[in-house]
Amino acid sequence: MNTTAAVVERIETLRNEINYHSRQYYVFDEPVISDTEYDRLFRELQDLESEYPQFIIADSPTQRVGDTPLASFNEVSHSLPMLSLDNAFGEEEMGEFERRIRDRLKLDGDQKISYLAEPKLDGLAINLRYEQGRLVLAATRGDGSRGEDVTSNVRTINAVPLKLQGDDWPPILEVRGEVFMPRKGFEALNRHAQELGEKSFVNPRNAAAGSLRQLDPRLTARRPLSFYTYGFGEVIPAPIASTQSESIYRLRQWGLPVSPLQEVVTGIQGCISYYRQIVQQRDALPYDIDGVVFKVDDLNRQQQLGFVSRAPRWAVAYKFPAQEEMTQVESIEFQVGRTGAITPVARLNPVFVGGVTVSNATLHNMDEVMRKDVRPGDTVVVRRAGDVIPEVVSVVLLKRMGGTAPITLPTRCPVCGSDIIKPEGEAVARCSGGLFCPAQRKEAIKHFASRKAMDIEGLGEKLVDQLVEQGLVDNPADLYSLTQEQLSGLERMAEKSAQNLLDALEKSKLTTLAHFLFSLGIREVGESTAQSLANQFSTLDALQQADEARLQETPDVGPIVAAHVVSFFRQAHNRAVVEQLLEVGVHWPEVEPQAADQQPLLGKTIVITGTLSRSRDLIKQELQVLGAKITGSVSKKTDYLIAGEEAGSKRSKAEQLGVKILDEAALYALLESLK
Ligand code: IVH
Repeated sequence: MNTTAAVVERIETLRNEINYHSRQYYVFDEPVISDTEYDRLFRELQDLESEYPQFIIADSPTQRVGDTPLASFNEVSHSLPMLSLDNAFGEEEMGEFERRIRDRLKLDGDQKISYLAEPKLDGLAINLRYEQGRLVLAATRGDGSRGEDVTSNVRTINAVPLKLQGDDWPPILEVRGEVFMPRKGFEALNRHAQELGEKSFVNPRNAAAGSLRQLDPRLTARRPLSFYTYGFGEVIPAPIASTQSESIYRLRQWGLPVSPLQEVVTGIQGCISYYRQIVQQRDALPYDIDGVVFKVDDLNRQQQLGFVSRAPRWAVAYKFPAQEEMTQVESIEFQVGRTGAITPVARLNPVFVGGVTVSNATLHNMDEVMRKDVRPGDTVVVRRAGDVIPEVVSVVLLKRMGGTAPITLPTRCPVCGSDIIKPEGEAVARCSGGLFCPAQRKEAIKHFASRKAMDIEGLGEKLVDQLVEQGLVDNPADLYSLTQEQLSGLERMAEKSAQNLLDALEKSKLTTLAHFLFSLGIREVGESTAQSLANQFSTLDALQQADEARLQETPDVGPIVAAHVVSFFRQAHNRAVVEQLLEVGVHWPEVEPQAADQQPLLGKTIVITGTLSRSRDLIKQELQVLGAKITGSVSKKTDYLIAGEEAGSKRSKAEQLGVKILDEAALYALLESLK
């Protein structure tokens, strides 16, 4: 790079390439190079420009960010007023909109109206003025006739071209569109603000507005703003096409980004089905929208229709139902969920939000209540977005009455009176009542009966619901006193199935300590923790007497699990249920704890597959007592595969890997030899 001419040429090429790639990305949504390659081009241009500053021009892609903060924004007049839109809520109001248009245009029954349809972005309106293809002014809407000059901030938005593409644009071209902040960027911005202990933004729209109103463009440049064009201001000479859709198409050719969801639709039916389609897509879009805008496509018709006060007659915003409303909190209650989670709920003065009447809103958990400091009597903002459960977003502090105090977590479960426990560092508080708490009863019994717990065949969800609702069963132990008579009285329960269930209950009484522990539904005691506890303690008595320190000697048992176990057995009603279960005959083979030197299978990994004549769990337990590790899949590390009848893929895998395979007889022979 030695001659000045070569430098100038390279600079020119780089600018064109960078602008081309920006357009591919923002306007056509079809990037052709990676971000890294883009950055490389950008850096090369920056380097050249700093070496040869005499060649810097204002609309070079490197010149988006100025370096001087403003003292204030200048006011500017709009050449043509920036209007707003009439709203329609519901299909009926959309019908009225079209009827008014048909009347004014005196259309016959068979003359159809085409509309340009697009989402209504939830950001803020901006007017961009291009003179001779160069961005010279960007202004906010303000009061519609006068706005603020935010040019230096808007220049930092990469989606906004500083220079139009091609050469067939009108010398004066004003376009209007929406500046918005995509949700991802908004979330990242708020996360960052929270980390720094700064105030976060309520929603992406506020964040976009706040970002454009920064006096220092270097700050705006760091905000993830984007932009879509949807209309025009002053255009000389006008028009650039005969329909709205063609005009927008031309804007796109000149490098202005346009919503990819734009579509021309016909008649009111076309509008309604477009609306429904956008409703479906709404949650998946990367930015917030609050409705759909329809504009009569034919510009002659637009002109004929004209304006009423501040809105065009030829356009309408079909709004989604508002997702946020204000109302008053009547009281705050604590609900106990199926798993014992305590959820604070605000009882509200009923309010219509997100398309339904809402009278309860979740406050999620105590940390949230404290953070938002919601109190009875407060006026709050309630949000219901899509199918998400309604929630309290924030308190309107200005409206708070005197004499209220922050809410505190109750110490006892409002349903059963058991202790409420909120482990340190966890957000969720829980009722410790477990099987005893009526709110958790159904869930506790379903868990108790499930395959990996007591494995009571035929005791499904619907049946448990009926048993509890009819007062036949209060806790798992009650299951074992059910009679044939009681059972056959239930819905969809023939005599035969009643007998089958009684048989299944009888069969379930022979279990293992691990299954029994798991079936009690102690928090954090899953299947494998239950197994470790059973291995460690061998008897229920020993386990019940263990303190937290002793419990923590068990592999995989830490302070949290230990605390849950202790708290479970400390509660008299839980001990009573356990007692009752033993009395009705639930039992398991006692196994003596083995010393390490009596564990001949220590270090051996065994997989069990296929149908065996004895319960697989009993076999598993027996092998574990001898020190074996039982796993679920065959690998090179497997020492034995125990294969019952109809062993399938595990058997073939073992054959492939040369793992030793034992049938049931060989297994018993092995166990015998180890005794
Ligand atoms: S057309 C002459 N199209 O909605 C009216 N507006 O409620 C021009 N908006 O101030 C507006 N997305 O900020 C139009 N696709 C869209 C829009 C849209 C968002 C905003 C715009 C306007 C407000 C009116």
